[in-house]
Amino acid sequence: MRLIIFGPPGAGKGTQARLLEDHRGLTQISTGDVLRDAMDQETTLGKKAKSYVEEGELVPDELVRALAEQAIADEGYDDFVLDGYPRTDQQAEWLTEFLEEHQTPLHVVLRLQVPNEELVRRLSRRRVHAETGETYHLDHDPPPDDVDPELIVQRSDDEPDTVRNRLEVYREETAPLASYYEDRGQLVSVDGTGGIEDVYERITQVLDELE
Ligand code: AP5
Repeated sequence: MRLIIFGPPGAGKGTQARLLEDHRGLTQISTGDVLRDAMDQETTLGKKAKSYVEEGELVPDELVRALAEQAIADEGYDDFVLDGYPRTDQQAEWLTEFLEEHQTPLHVVLRLQVPNEELVRRLSRRRVHAETGETYHLDHDPPPDDVDPELIVQRSDDEPDTVRNRLEVYREETAPLASYYEDRGQLVSVDGTGGIEDVYERITQVLDELE
């Protein structure tokens, strides 16, 4: 199955994509994770992306296009969930063309809907494991007791000013993609509120109906 999980920062895209990986054998392709790894390793891509990511701006389309297409090709063009790609009209057009060239169109674009105040609450209380990248939430999904607390850190783009900018960038550049996929008959909206397992259950229902 080929799908996109789509929604604003903090909607739970990464959390749900990891559950889809664990339970349905789909590979999570997160452009954000790839960019953060590249930044940690100070690769050429990482150096180019750093200032954009840290300010909550989008990295230029050309840079993310290459890494998304490579990751999809690595999966044999199937059984993936795109998390954080596409984010602009240009990226969406490229993705459609790329998948059409390989006769592997998307099955569905899942849009997670979560009110703004809840997004801010989730992002301000998010923490990540500095080495594994595992995501936690201090209230809803705290790190296990056996994890060294010194390794639990806040993402640099989860600072309040940067979060505000990311939400604004999402509204301006990414949210309009919902119409693009709606026009193509591929968009399904999912209520992203409630517990992590509740949201996963809703997603499961949508995917089961498609199979
Ligand atoms: P990226 O890493 O993709 O960030 P994002 O889209 O802003 O999304 P987040 O990772 O912040 O949120 P999420 O929806 O995955 O939520 P999560 O599951 O973690 O991108 C980062 C940056 O990279 C961008 O700003 C940009 O600069 C660059 N970039 C990436 N892709 C790009 C592209 N295509 N083009 C250009 N630039 C690009 O959940 C959030 C928190 O809430 C966690 O703590 C979690 O535990 C908790 N939580 C999740 N679900 C629930 C729930 N149901 N109830 C309670 N808590 C919950």
